[in-house]
Amino acid sequence: MSLLDEIEPMKAEALAELSAAPDQQALERAKGAWIGPKGKFTGLMKQLGSLSKEERPLAGKAINQAKGELEQALLAARERIEMAASVPTEPTDFTAPGRCRRLGRLHPLTQVTEDIVKSFRKLGFVVADGPEVEDEYHCFDALNTPADHPARDAQDTFYLDQPDRPLLRTHTSSVQIRVMKEQSPPVRIIVPGRVYRRDTADATHNPTFQQVEGLYVDKGVTVGDLKGTVEFVFRELMGPKTQIRFRPHYFSYTEPSFEIDFANSLTKKMGKDWLEIAGCGMVHPAVFEEVGYDPEVWTGWAFGFGIERIAMLRYGINDIRLFYENDVRFLEQF
Ligand code: DAH
Repeated sequence: MSLLDEIEPMKAEALAELSAAPDQQALERAKGAWIGPKGKFTGLMKQLGSLSKEERPLAGKAINQAKGELEQALLAARERIEMAASVPTEPTDFTAPGRCRRLGRLHPLTQVTEDIVKSFRKLGFVVADGPEVEDEYHCFDALNTPADHPARDAQDTFYLDQPDRPLLRTHTSSVQIRVMKEQSPPVRIIVPGRVYRRDTADATHNPTFQQVEGLYVDKGVTVGDLKGTVEFVFRELMGPKTQIRFRPHYFSYTEPSFEIDFANSLTKKMGKDWLEIAGCGMVHPAVFEEVGYDPEVWTGWAFGFGIERIAMLRYGINDIRLFYENDVRFLEQF
């Protein structure tokens, strides 16, 4: 067989080997065997001298052409093997977190609550907590709220359809009773928590909302202490220029009782001089007697306010329902 006739079958064999090479190592081996310095095609080149003058240029051209094709095939094979190596061998888990981290954030009400708690902690208060499903005793009776009080009406309070009339607490004041029955004075607690009232939802009402309750019991506690504490906390929360004002009011569990108004640039922006923000007062002796504290020895004050109101003022939100819709477009802004 003449050299010229060997070229085509050799080329076919080499191409087949390159395209079948399973990995880079096999490919390198095939390259060396066919077109490397010691490869078979290089060997053919060396034999050109033995050919006739007519055959020599034809064979040289054919060998070069075959080598060119093999170079191409080599590149293609390299690409094929690289691609195969980049395909995962394990099944893909499409529920795995993406490379771009999108962390969640705290709900604006949680942020405000944490700020309130932080301020009270500076004054030595600790966080207490109680059940949202309460009974009439802790929510009303022990707080000196008589059976004919409108708050106890089924129109205003969610009662559960069960024996003993359990209810959803209408305020966090019920936790005052639970804590005082558990521990002896002095007491210094704040109670952030969810409360429920039978209100129809509108821009300023929602059937559930959040309150913070405060209770301070010790010897010789005065209204002055109450006012100083409220002022400190509200200035931390709403800015150092915040003014506080007490107005006489009525709550069955405090005597005297007050409503707290505040004023600052936020209330000005709303076109108001003063805005009502909380209820408070000196703990009623009847409440102390109920929990077994001697009202001749111990005095104390308590307050309660809504957290949504503060968050709405702070962030300029005009509809309380936004806090409960869980729309990320809203929540992402805080
Ligand atoms: N419980 C009252 C309310 O829900 C707020 C309140 C007023 C709490 C006076 C108190 C207090 O502890 O002393 O509107």
